[in-house]
Amino acid sequence: MKTNLFFLLQLIVQQRNLFCLFCATVLVVGLHERLCNTVNAQATTADATSEETNIEEPDEGSTPDDRLASERPKPLPIDMKIDRRTVIPPALTEFRNREIAQTMHYAGAPWLVRESRQREEDCRTLLEALKVQSGDVLCDMGCGNGFYTLELARMVGPKGLVYAVDIQPEMLRMLARRAADEKLDNIRLILGTPADPRLPQGKIDLVLCVDVYHEFSHPEQMLDRVRESLSEKGRLVLAEFRGEDPEVPIKPLHKMTKAQVRAELEPAGFMLAEEFDRLPWQHLLFFQKLLVQPQ
Ligand SMILES: C[S@@+](CC[C@H](N)C(=O)[O-])C[C@H]1O[C@@H](n2cnc3c(N)ncnc32)[C@H](O)[C@@H]1O
Repeated sequence: MKTNLFFLLQLIVQQRNLFCLFCATVLVVGLHERLCNTVNAQATTADATSEETNIEEPDEGSTPDDRLASERPKPLPIDMKIDRRTVIPPALTEFRNREIAQTMHYAGAPWLVRESRQREEDCRTLLEALKVQSGDVLCDMGCGNGFYTLELARMVGPKGLVYAVDIQPEMLRMLARRAADEKLDNIRLILGTPADPRLPQGKIDLVLCVDVYHEFSHPEQMLDRVRESLSEKGRLVLAEFRGEDPEVPIKPLHKMTKAQVRAELEPAGFMLAEEFDRLPWQHLLFFQKLLVQPQ
């Protein structure tokens, strides 16, 4: 064994030029492969955001970290099929004497899943008040990273469906990952535009907007599209921080009074059908669509 090692060392010393050449070749081939993988990964990302690619499928990944991640279930696909030729009207900054709040940036997503949320907002009571049935078709409008979507998906069960809509792909990617980890596949993730949630028409039993409506930069168009998406008995439910209540520790721009909500939704063809007043911070308002839209 020792003799063999000695011969091997002697061979390396005698043929050191050849040995160096061999090492250099291994290094160059390795680098080349690595470079190709990076370029491919970049091309996939570019494709996912290009106009031709409609569904964002998760990448398998090429680094050891990615490979580890790919052993987890794949994130759900995201429907990104926005027709880029559609002209979106300019965003409003004000609607019916209310200043419209800016979109909450996806960097703030951890706040939406903070540990104190249940205690502060009593989210479980909110969910119970919705009276969701197994098999229902729901929409979590402005789903963010999916705090409510995952619960709703469990509530409707395998025969039901939850459309999860947001205008920030980053929020949808976080939700896609979380839904897969929780093994929930009855969720359809949709990238909406600020004026169109891209929902199927006449199919949805309940559209839920938790802390979302006051951010709509195109409230009239959004309400029209939501109205079209609802089934005949479908309901639109708004949870908004109470604007009348100075005790609710949220900036006024992110709160709404009941009167303001009604002043905006009723002219858009909705009728207040039910109010739930037992949440600590929020109004929970149930609207039905009028069959004939007011002129
Ligand atoms: C404050 S977050 C609430 C997220 C989630 N509903 C929750 O309670 O955890 C508001 C979300 O609404 C989304 N949003 C704003 N305007 C929207 C629109 N026109 N269509 C869909 N989502 C919208 C934002 O991108 C953001 O993720």
